[in-house]
Amino acid sequence: MTLTNKANKEKLIIFDTTLRDGEQSPGVTLTVNEKIEIAKQLSRLGVDVLEAGFPVASQGDFDAVQRIANEVGHLMVGREAIGKPITIAGLARAVPADIQRCYDAIVTAPQKRIHIFLATSDIHLEHKLKISREECVTRAVASVSFAKSLIDDVEFSPEDAGRSDQDFLCKVLGAVIEAGATTLNIPDTVGYNMPEEYGAMIKYLIANTKGSDKVVWSAHCHNDLGLATANTLSGINNGIRQVEVTINGIGERAGNTAMEEIVMAVHTHPDFFPVYHTINTPLFFRISQLVSSLSGMVVQSNKAIVGANAFLHESGIHQDGVLKNKTTYEIISPETVGANTINLVLGKHSGRAAFRSRLQDLGFGELTEGEFQTAFNSFKTLADNKKRVTEQDLIALLSDQVSSSAGDKATWVIKSLQVVSGTSFATATVQLQNTITEEVHIDAAIGKSGPIEAVFSAIQRLVGKNIRLLKFDIAAVGEGMDALGQVSVKVAEKTSVSGSASGEESPVQETADVNKITYHGHGADSDIIQAAAKAYLNALNRLVATENERIQEERKVNV
Ligand code: KIV
Ligand code: ZN
Repeated sequence: MTLTNKANKEKLIIFDTTLRDGEQSPGVTLTVNEKIEIAKQLSRLGVDVLEAGFPVASQGDFDAVQRIANEVGHLMVGREAIGKPITIAGLARAVPADIQRCYDAIVTAPQKRIHIFLATSDIHLEHKLKISREECVTRAVASVSFAKSLIDDVEFSPEDAGRSDQDFLCKVLGAVIEAGATTLNIPDTVGYNMPEEYGAMIKYLIANTKGSDKVVWSAHCHNDLGLATANTLSGINNGIRQVEVTINGIGERAGNTAMEEIVMAVHTHPDFFPVYHTINTPLFFRISQLVSSLSGMVVQSNKAIVGANAFLHESGIHQDGVLKNKTTYEIISPETVGANTINLVLGKHSGRAAFRSRLQDLGFGELTEGEFQTAFNSFKTLADNKKRVTEQDLIALLSDQVSSSAGDKATWVIKSLQVVSGTSFATATVQLQNTITEEVHIDAAIGKSGPIEAVFSAIQRLVGKNIRLLKFDIAAVGEGMDALGQVSVKVAEKTSVSGSASGEESPVQETADVNKITYHGHGADSDIIQAAAKAYLNALNRLVATENERIQEERKVNV
């Protein structure tokens, strides 16, 4: 196996959009603290450009991008080889208010970029934007010129490029290059293209766009046909030098291109691609677990590079081969992507120093003394119940701590939880504290179908919400009876519809509106009922926070 050879190759720029396009995955709503934690890890991973969000979308998005620019935009930990901090990018539509808002959010980062998008396909121009091709060119040029008056680094994306007329694309792209765009991103927004088609389109655009040699060409592929990675790689062999990717491939619908797949394809085939990468690949497994844990998007076991089975050999013939020589069935060694470190063990006798050093390895080195103490206490409690605490356990514990830490979205915290269950109904008694009023509230509920129903009913009554549970996943972190249970839930608030057309009295009907916002939550604990309670409350806290944010924004508008 050869390592990446940089001779005669160009650097592949890694543009991560986990926090923007990835966060657009149905049900994913990351809190600001969670985004910052992921952003720090992306910086350590060696990512070149981090798309932190869409600042005009909401005050919450603006705040997250601004805090990432302040708190992550300067970091150099793990980036010594790259020699510069990560570039913080924000997304904007091709309108001045979006661009200004984006600039205001990223302004403090030493390296910053405005990313403007405007659809170019006839389908989008006609049905969505209702503008002509001429108007499209005018808007694209005006928006890039305005962004250029604020900042040097401007990226332009013709949305739905994969279904756009290619000669029209050359016209728009030539015009934005003249207006000052420095990166041109070619999105296959709906995941429609075939690999040869996407590669040929890139080749055509580079050959036929005026000034194409002055800019970096970028790929942004969606995975609707399962081809996002193949299309992006085909792009690289046809002139792409920046790839827009997410960790675990999360994103709208079927997702975006997975960063770990592109980087490891380039890494494993250094002679096949005209590029090299500067990603710290042994961090892949950890960041994959962190993103999965915080986003609630479970990584499928057979997922390439970061799936739980990616390095397991089940059949006897394979096991025999690997024991004789690993390369018989392993094209990548598990160490290269950090799949071996995840099972490293700490025990209940491990002290603060060993724990601190392991946190540092995991990228949680910048905890305050208070945060460190909370994490250490959780570790000690877990170690009392579990012989071997693995890195996976620590990631699960720290993900929980990041999500529920002060200053973020936790209006409600669990004070106590008691459950009785058996062959008939289960009952749950729950005490919650409201962190704003500091009042403690208590309620009890029964669950016809078991203790989870009882706990969730009591919690939703205490929070004062009528909730529909849309998804409930439970998984063991690692092996054994003492494994930590990790629960992930998705919920939506029910809407009440009462009355009937005939005017007769009818029972109140409750529906979880499918178009309504969904919220995910996650929780980890060695007691799975507690893990479920934490996950459910975590989701409800996000719902309450979003509602509070909306009320504040409405108040601002009315003032
Ligand atoms: O898929 C897409 O077209 C996008 C653009 C905003 C780049 O995400
Ligand atoms: Zn996209």
